[in-house]
Amino acid sequence: MKLLFLNGPNLNLLGKREPGIYGKTTLAEIETTVCQRAGELGVAVDFRQSNSEGELVTWIQQAVGEFGAVVLNAGAYTHTSIALRDAISATGIPTVEIHLSNIHAREEFRHHSMIAAVCRGQICGFGPHSYVLGLEAALSLIKPAA
Ligand code: DQA
Repeated sequence: MKLLFLNGPNLNLLGKREPGIYGKTTLAEIETTVCQRAGELGVAVDFRQSNSEGELVTWIQQAVGEFGAVVLNAGAYTHTSIALRDAISATGIPTVEIHLSNIHAREEFRHHSMIAAVCRGQICGFGPHSYVLGLEAALSLIKPAA
C-alpha cells in the first residue's frame, strides 16, 4: 500500500519563503528525505504539491483505493477550507495533518484548523522532520503494530 503526501499553496516556495519560520530546506529536499525513510520502512510514497484547492480536493478523492493514507500539509487552506475537510470526511481516507511550524504558537488565525477534526491526528512544529513523523504516523494507521 502506498502513502500520498499532499502539499498545499506556497509550499513550492520552501527554501526561499520566510526562512526564519519555515527554514531553508526546499520541498524537493524534504521529498528526498521522506522517500529515503519510506524506503527503509518498506512503503512507497507519492509526493505532490498544488496551489489549487480544487486540485487537492480531486487528489484526495482519487486517493481512495490507491493509497492507504494521506499525509497532508494543506498550508493556508488548513485554516479556511471546508472543501478539503469535506473531501477527507467524504472519502474516509485516513489522513495525518502536518505542518512545519507550530501553528498554535503563531498568529491567532492559524490556531484553528478546519481539517483537524476529520484527520486522525496532527503533527506540527518540527520543521522538515514533521514530514518524517507524518510518514511514520500514517504507516502506523495502515500497519497497526501487532
Ligand atoms: C504551514 C502553516 C500554515 O499556517 C501556513 O499557511 C503554511 C505552512 C506549515 O507547514 O507550517 O503555508 O502549513
